[in-house]
Parts: sequence; C-alpha cells; structure tokens
Amino acid sequence: MFRKRITAVAVGLVACHALCAAAADTKTVEVMHWWTSGGEAKALAVLKDGLKAKGDAWKDSPIAGGGGEAARTVLKARVASGNPPDAIQMLGFTIPEYAQEDYLQNLDAVASKEDWDKLVPAPIQKFSKVDGHWVAAPVDVHRTNWVWANKKIFDQLKLTPPKTFDELVADADKIRKAGYVPLAHGGQAWQEATIFDSAVMSAGGPKFYQQALVKLDPSALGSKTMEKAFDQMRALRGMVDPNFPGRDWNLATSMVITGKAAMQIMGDWAKGEFASAGKQPNVDYLCFNYPGTDGAFIFNTDQFAGFKKGDASLPGEYAFASTIMDKGVQAKFNQIKGSIPARLDVPQDGFDECGKKSMNDMRAALKTDSMVGSFAHGHAMPDGPKNAVYDVVTHFFNSNQSSADAVKSLVAAVKNSQ
Ligand code: BGC
Repeated sequence: MFRKRITAVAVGLVACHALCAAAADTKTVEVMHWWTSGGEAKALAVLKDGLKAKGDAWKDSPIAGGGGEAARTVLKARVASGNPPDAIQMLGFTIPEYAQEDYLQNLDAVASKEDWDKLVPAPIQKFSKVDGHWVAAPVDVHRTNWVWANKKIFDQLKLTPPKTFDELVADADKIRKAGYVPLAHGGQAWQEATIFDSAVMSAGGPKFYQQALVKLDPSALGSKTMEKAFDQMRALRGMVDPNFPGRDWNLATSMVITGKAAMQIMGDWAKGEFASAGKQPNVDYLCFNYPGTDGAFIFNTDQFAGFKKGDASLPGEYAFASTIMDKGVQAKFNQIKGSIPARLDVPQDGFDECGKKSMNDMRAALKTDSMVGSFAHGHAMPDGPKNAVYDVVTHFFNSNQSSADAVKSLVAAVKNSQ
C-alpha cells in the first residue's frame, strides 16, 4: 500500500525538480529529524557544527515524537506534495522502501572516496545500501536490550542487576514495597514494541528472534516460546505506575534520573538523557542487559538519506553525508547521544563504561551472528508487518488478553499484513 501511494505522487516530485534545484544552489541543507529531547538536541548540535565547518548552512526541521512515527508521516506528506527535505533521519526498512522508488540520492562517490565499505559493519550496511549502492549514511548504532537503573535505589535495597527475568520480577516487588515505581514506562506503541524486542530475545534467544521477527515464520510466531515473551510483557505491565499512558520516553527516563522510579527498559538514547542531566554510569545509574539477553545485541541505526532534487543539490548533500561519516564527528556525537559509532575505527577513549560495553558487545555479537535488527525501530521486518505487530503488542499490554490469545492474534496479524 505504501509503495503504491509513493508511486502515485512521483509525478509531483518530478515537477518540483526545477524549483527545488534553484533553492539548493545556496548549499543550505534542510535536515528533517526527530531529535528533540535534551540529550538528542545536544548530540544533534555536533552534526550542525560539523556541517557548518564544511562551509554549508543547516536548515533545521525537527518533528517531535520519539521513535520517528510522526516524522515518517510528515515525510510521506512532503514527498506527496513534491517538497521533500534535502536530508532525513531514517530507520531500517524505510530506507530501501524509498530507494526502490528512486527517491534517494546515490552516495557512492562519497562512500568510495571515504572507504565506507570497509568501515561499517555488515548488518548496518544492509540498510545503507540498496542493489549495491550507498543511499544512506549511518551515524550511530543504538541498542534496545538495555535496562537503565537508579543506583541509589538499587544500593538502598541491596539489589544487583538481575540475571534472570524471575529475579527482575522479585526485585520489582521489593522496589514497589519500598515506595518506588519499579518500571518507568511511557504508554506509546513504539515504547511497548521496544520492550517487546527484549522480551522475545529473552524468551527465545537470537535464533528464535530471527526466526520469529525477521523471517516471520508462523510456527515461531505461534510458539510456546512466543507465549513466554508475552508472559514477560504481562509481568512488566504490573510494574508500571498508573500514569504511564501517553508519557514520552524521556519523561520516563527522568523518573529514573530523579529517583521516582527504579528502572527503564529503553534503547541507549536514554543514556543521552542521563548524560545531559550530568549523571555518571556506575555512580548515579546502572546500565545492564535485559535479563536473559547477554550476548545478544538488538540494534537500530540512525541513518541519513538525501532526497533527489536535481543535481544542484548534490554538493550540499555530499557534504552532509561526509559530515555524518566523519570519524571525529561520530566520536563526539555518539558520546553525547548514548549510542556507539557506526564506523568500526573510532577509538573507545572518551566513551563511558556503558558505551565501551556496547562497543565490545557489538563486536562479540558480530562474530556469533547475534547482532539482530530491532523490530520496534524498523530493522527486523518491513513497515507493513511491523505496524500489524505493533497493534498486537500494544493491545496486549493495555488489556487483559491472555498470552495464548495474543500469540494467535500475532500469527493472524502478520499473515494479513503480507
Ligand atoms: C532513534 C533514536 C531516538 C529514539 C527516540 C529511535 O528510533 O533511533 O535516535 O533517540 O528513537 O526518539
């Protein structure tokens, strides 16, 4: 459905080329993104400064909304009206979907000059390249199977990072009895999906995760193992406070930072909020893998693609892509953002302990085929099934549905979406 709609508006986009080319002569790069939280905005400033250092101007087009749902909707509308931004933050399968409709700039000239083929891990390149051509520049690697914990609360209650899901449940009980919210959560579909990434991995491990959420194998989707993932979701639902519906992810992080809540299950952009508030890992907060997911690295990577608008826009877009991939920019950006560089040659110096752990874990996971794409952030399955699974997960989390029924809905929803 998505492709048909995009094809239908292609005529409008072609009509825009002459007008857009004139605007692009100024080498101002309009960048659309959804980095509007405190930590995200600080990290974004590194990219802005990097582009300015190349002599180009940055036109900022922020679209608030964690996970990028709102930004994707705005992008569709702007493409439909023939007025896409020059560059846009994109996740996973969205990149090949736009590239296959011939909307994205070919970045091969910059990529080969700067040797991106050798610098970027294969699972990331899978989304940056389409039919062997670079169409997006990856700036970071985020990981979703993290728990962020308030160290003061953990110390007070003599808790250590739980190794199994049952231990997490037992800890949550102690935390609630001591008067804290065990789990800070924002009730938005993408945040529930983010937790589901970890629950599926914990219940079944990397092979099962791939079979179910990447290959969409009905027997894995409908299995008892998948029921266990929903059981974990049900237990986690019992750990949140009554005000969770609609809460933004960074407000949930703030509950952990301020000691109202003990833990948050979230990608490491949450670490950007701790850093922005002046908090230190192992002093103020703890970072550990969601129980049962040691060795697995569930990734999402923020990439920037440039939209075709006539050749005149290319110098600005090339300069932007080159900024994104700059070694120094990736070091500085990722230390603030909470993620790790998409380039493998950036040294660990300057990264905190959580960042170093992530860099080491990613390298280990690459060797064991345990670096898998995040379902929640569009790196496991295309948008059609992804949205269908979002609905199943969020309905389950916000109702009393049984795990057995959720699994049946999951199989049906994936089947209908294909
Ligand atoms: C992006 C992150 C971003 C997070 C919250 C994710 O989809 O990959 O860069 O910080 O959403 O907005």
